[in-house]
Amino acid sequence: MQIRQKDERAHSSVPHHVAIIMDGNGRWATSRGFPRVMGHQKGAAAVRRTVEAAASRGIAILTLFAFSSENWKRPRTEVSALMQLFMRALDKETEHLRENGIRLHVLGDVSAFSDSLRQRIAQAEERTRDGHRMLLNIAANYGGRWDIVQAARAAAADIASGRLESHDLNEERFASYLAEKEDVDLLIRTGGEKRISNFLMWQTSYSEIYFSDTLWPDYSSQDLDLAIEFFRGRERRFGMTSAQVADPR
Ligand code: FPP
Repeated sequence: MQIRQKDERAHSSVPHHVAIIMDGNGRWATSRGFPRVMGHQKGAAAVRRTVEAAASRGIAILTLFAFSSENWKRPRTEVSALMQLFMRALDKETEHLRENGIRLHVLGDVSAFSDSLRQRIAQAEERTRDGHRMLLNIAANYGGRWDIVQAARAAAADIASGRLESHDLNEERFASYLAEKEDVDLLIRTGGEKRISNFLMWQTSYSEIYFSDTLWPDYSSQDLDLAIEFFRGRERRFGMTSAQVADPR
């Protein structure tokens, strides 16, 4: 990130890029005697609420962890229910996103998804591509280490073909090969666990991290406001001293 951008972000009261690890769907359901899938269905409604709240708060990028590279290990029925849910959400919500100026982008190794899901993703990205109010990244079959490795591979390919000189490969240039190049200002994890779980490993290097006990299906705009409030109270130093942050000249 450029120094000027860091200054702006150190003093900004609304986080530019918010990323959320949406955790607690299964516990929400089992504690009520429901199948886990019902927790994911309620979770999809919380996604809708949170997207609306984030856009109305002026957040520029919202990245949601919907399905990690490790989630394939879940019972087959749960994985296929999640895939159905993504398809339905894409069918149902794309128009709503477009009307509200929200651009959708899916981060992750989509090659593992079915043809019909991949097609729907491509269509939804295409139909929302002129949205300038907020970028909504859905991380699906995403892993932070996968992202760094695919970026390294792409950079190596460019070096091998002569499109990039190895001495020009610095942090900023490297970030441009990542699935999302923008640093995360505020990382939120719901559901009470305190782990990063191989989410945006590179992009969260300087993030403020907020852990919420709320289970994802219960997540509301008030919960998001609490996280933003926490962010406002943080002093973001990016390695500088407090005095430098207060007066960056
Ligand atoms: C974590 O809860 C949640 C997931 C792995 C899936 C997230 C999916 C959604 C919120 C559904 C819809 C998403 C979109 C983009 C439409 P968990 O199952 O790990 O909960 P637990 O820790 O209580 O078991």
